[in-house]
Amino acid sequence: MLQRILDYAHHLLSGSVEEGDWVVDGTAGNGYDTVFLSKLVGETGHVLSFDIQEQAIYNTDEKLAEHESTNVSLILDSHDRLDTYLPSEDTVLGGAIFNLGYLPGSDKQVITKSTSTIPAVQSILKHLKQRGILILVVYYGHEGGEEEKTELLKYVSKLDQKQYNVLRYGFINQKNNPPFIVAVEKK
Ligand SMILES: C[S@@+](CC[C@H](N)C(=O)[O-])C[C@H]1O[C@@H](n2cnc3c(N)ncnc32)[C@H](O)[C@@H]1O
Repeated sequence: MLQRILDYAHHLLSGSVEEGDWVVDGTAGNGYDTVFLSKLVGETGHVLSFDIQEQAIYNTDEKLAEHESTNVSLILDSHDRLDTYLPSEDTVLGGAIFNLGYLPGSDKQVITKSTSTIPAVQSILKHLKQRGILILVVYYGHEGGEEEKTELLKYVSKLDQKQYNVLRYGFINQKNNPPFIVAVEKK
């Protein structure tokens, strides 16, 4: 069976993230990916989870409490400031996920933008372990989404194939701009 977008994103992360890894959720939102990552890395690992909206941090905090997760730093800041929050310049990341777009059930004006998404992707790639994977779930049906999608695809399609494998996964017969995955694996 063809895996749905979010299932496939998690499947890819499960294959590369290991217990004890440091990982990043670039867009905490309602916390689903943060909880998923928290379980993957276990008690010896750590999740840095970013969002610029207090509501998202609150929602994610609630979800983490339900799951009794204690290995997550919730950070009310933009994901392109990742370097500031890593313990050292040499910190290695086991993986990362960014769910782009706006917070479901919230203000559609607050969206991810290429001007911060691309610098954040650059930071992640600098710290990603060999065979580590960065997942971008690209939603682009909303106002402003097309611009981010175009810039992001321009950027990732130029990544050096000697250093990275870049995959795009999505359903091409669905209406209303269905989301797709861009996965970047460090060789
Ligand atoms: C599609 S939602 C994320 C959904 C989330 N992964 C989940 O599991 O529910 C996108 C989120 O990105 C956040 N966001 C927008 N710009 C951001 C930025 N520069 N840094 C961090 N988060 C950002 C929004 O506030 C919103 O909560």
